[in-house]
Amino acid sequence: MALDEPDSGPDVVPVDWDLLRAKATEAMQRAYAPYSRFPVGVAGLVEDGRIVSGCNVENAAYGVALCAECGMVSQLHLTGGGRLVAVSCVNGNGDPLMPCGRCRQLLWENGGPACQVMTSAGPRTMADLLPDAFGGKDLDDLARRSS
Ligand code: THU
Repeated sequence: MALDEPDSGPDVVPVDWDLLRAKATEAMQRAYAPYSRFPVGVAGLVEDGRIVSGCNVENAAYGVALCAECGMVSQLHLTGGGRLVAVSCVNGNGDPLMPCGRCRQLLWENGGPACQVMTSAGPRTMADLLPDAFGGKDLDDLARRSS
């Protein structure tokens, strides 16, 4: 099965958005952002109920900064993998922050189209935030055509 096929069935994992935001804010307080002075924290609920989180980590070589989502996704895999069902990303005030384009791709890979992301206007799905996404299915399709 391709990694980004639409999830089957309704979302059965209850999402405690207040808790997710609190975990994201806690992570944001650990950010290493001396260059941009823009700390970011993110927390994700995994399908099995785990919560994983991350903060941004910058570098004197500006271009190699790690977004908060990179750390969260690493922790996801480090602690057993699984799919993200809900994500809260916050800025230095603890307010919702829209994930950058690159990080939407990370969330797509690890959560798929049904994964919900909190925005200032409420939760939105990844299908909404990354329409016509490139994903594992595109690789599968080409491999099938050329075999
Ligand atoms: N940043 C994130 O951590 N995640 C995002 O989705 C948006 C941007 C970080 C990268 C950089 O350290 C700082 O925010 C300013 O761009």
